[in-house]
Amino acid sequence: MVTSIRPDQKVKIGPTQLLINNEWVNSVSGRCFQTINPTTGEIICDVAEADAADVDQAVKAARTAFTRGNWPQMSATKRGELLYKLADLIEQNIVELAQLESLDNGKPVTDSLNIDLPLVIACYRYYAGWADKIQGKTIPINGSYFCYTRHEPIGVVGQIIPWNFPLLMQAWKLAPALATGNTVVLKTAEQTPLSALRIGSLIVEAGFPPGVVNILSGYGPTAGAAISHHNDIDKVAFTGSTEVGHLIMEAAAKSNLKRVTLELGGKSPNIIFADANMDAAIEGTHFGLFFNQGQCCCAGSRVFVEEKCYDEFVAKTVERAKQRVVGDPFDPKTQQGPQVDQEQFNKVMGYIESGVRENAQMLCGGHRVGDRGFFIEPTIFANVRDEMKIAQEEIFGPVMSIIKFKDINEVIERANNTIYGLAAAVWTQDITKAHTIANSLRAGTVWVNCYDVFDAAAPFGGFKQSGIGRELGEYGLQQYTEIKTVTIKL
Ligand code: NAI
Ligand code: MG
Repeated sequence: MVTSIRPDQKVKIGPTQLLINNEWVNSVSGRCFQTINPTTGEIICDVAEADAADVDQAVKAARTAFTRGNWPQMSATKRGELLYKLADLIEQNIVELAQLESLDNGKPVTDSLNIDLPLVIACYRYYAGWADKIQGKTIPINGSYFCYTRHEPIGVVGQIIPWNFPLLMQAWKLAPALATGNTVVLKTAEQTPLSALRIGSLIVEAGFPPGVVNILSGYGPTAGAAISHHNDIDKVAFTGSTEVGHLIMEAAAKSNLKRVTLELGGKSPNIIFADANMDAAIEGTHFGLFFNQGQCCCAGSRVFVEEKCYDEFVAKTVERAKQRVVGDPFDPKTQQGPQVDQEQFNKVMGYIESGVRENAQMLCGGHRVGDRGFFIEPTIFANVRDEMKIAQEEIFGPVMSIIKFKDINEVIERANNTIYGLAAAVWTQDITKAHTIANSLRAGTVWVNCYDVFDAAAPFGGFKQSGIGRELGEYGLQQYTEIKTVTIKL
């Protein structure tokens, strides 16, 4: 067993097959695909590639597990115990999982170990606690009747997750679905299949009955589309691009009207007033954008700064970005690793070029780091105008756009002028300003004098085209149950 994380320490890789009905199997086609190490561009290993036929088998296993056998018979308390057991096993294997996450995704291993994995464990424990506390209501209807509601599992749930937080997105999806008694077919992102599969082996070890959790590696247009179009999947939960979010809803509409929850892109405003604690605002803004290589759906990528403090804020923010340590994710000093793959690298570099072309003022960064892997310098554009591409579109990389504003009414209007509505932040010492901003921004989360504060108990999700539904907290549970009304004549 791995006990400490040293840069030279070998990472344990596997499993690499598909997990269907608690068995590790090859794909029906026998095909595999390669998963790449973003630090070097080299192949890590081959993994089995699921397609429609494998989705079918996984759905059959999940349907059987939902209707017959131990799972539907199991008490809610016992379901909670299995989730607690899984959380314990993850904790026991935390070093191995953190290494695998960083190898496949490129995030600094210190972040995997100290941020991602603790949030993963907390999420499973939080929903483990809910399992036996999911209750309906008794309703005093007119006439001589006894009326009550039951919160029943939806059934077979398809879950499609992205590559930016592979383990955390798996936890946000699996934990509430299992706490409420559903069965799952989960497809990971093609860039980062490995850590989720390792969790699969822990799920089997924890004692979940066969077919309750099925985990497939594969591509979006094949395996992903097979899930969203499947007529025997009752709900699909998706995290990823807004573009694919549209496709998922369309597929649900064209197939069986499966329930849809979506957690999509963002272009989150981060507003700094001159009366803010400047040091905290600068540090929070740095973290809010550059954390996770800028690959966060809620990244504070539109930084609105009040005119009165603009020059000071910009100068200090650039100094801070220049100190950021970019390098090998397995080096404990590293704060920023590579982008996840060549495609994301190209996309981000394209946005940097567009910022230069549209005459935003590039004050630091802008180049690739090194000559292998997908590393990009922390990059800051100032004097960005609202209509520029870098102020409108989700970049998903280490590129900050700083925009000047004069007063509160103006900044509220400009901050809301986007198709997105995932998150927002405001930095001010004035409580009235803070509440006005918090109430006026059309976003699912507003952080005041902080950024990226996540907790399993606090709901997260988007207004507008940033999504449908909420994950985490009690609200997250509601997305995994059907309400049944039972009325009895007395
Ligand atoms: P994507 O939306 O294509 O991929 C996310 C997941 O959806 C993956 O598992 C993928 O295999 C699957 N998928 C792709 N096409 C599908 C389809 N037709 N049907 C069903 N599933 C499908 O995102 P991608 O291409 O990895 O990144 C593109 C951009 O999306 C990023 O640059 C970023 O702006 C945004 N994004 C947002 C995320 C978020 O957390 N909200 C996460 C990942 C990407
Ligand atoms: Mg895509």
